[in-house]
Amino acid sequence: MGIKPSIPQSISARSRRNLMTAMKDEAFTYVKLKLFAKAARRHGHTELAELFDRTADHEYLEHFAKVASLAGLTGTDEQNLSHAIQEESFEIDQLYMVFAREALEDGDLEVAGQFSQIRHDEAVHRLAFEEALAYLQTHDLIMGRA
Ligand SMILES: [Fe+2]
Ligand SMILES: [Fe+2]
Repeated sequence: MGIKPSIPQSISARSRRNLMTAMKDEAFTYVKLKLFAKAARRHGHTELAELFDRTADHEYLEHFAKVASLAGLTGTDEQNLSHAIQEESFEIDQLYMVFAREALEDGDLEVAGQFSQIRHDEAVHRLAFEEALAYLQTHDLIMGRA
């Protein structure tokens, strides 16, 4: 699902798959723990909120970042923008389009509405990335860096 980074071919197919799965799991854990921290803060449990936040940061800055480094996730800013544009396009043209339609078919109107709203937001993200990429490419041409 989604856009795969170009993980070095020197790594076995299974390890490449596992790197992708590990990144997704760590990313999901990170955001989940951030929401748990927010909830704990709302419930007046400040120290618990800090534990969730601290652990979330570790999942992101240690686990995700190290796996992402092995997977060659980040490249030049232009490559990262292209990657991000492809990812947004996947969400707009496939994932959320299909999900919204399926939710509607099943009568889950609130879910369908949320997927449609998110899909709209992703289009805004994509446009901003496209503009940034165009700017960077033009700027680099003028600066003689391209
Ligand atoms: Fe982790
Ligand atoms: Fe997005």
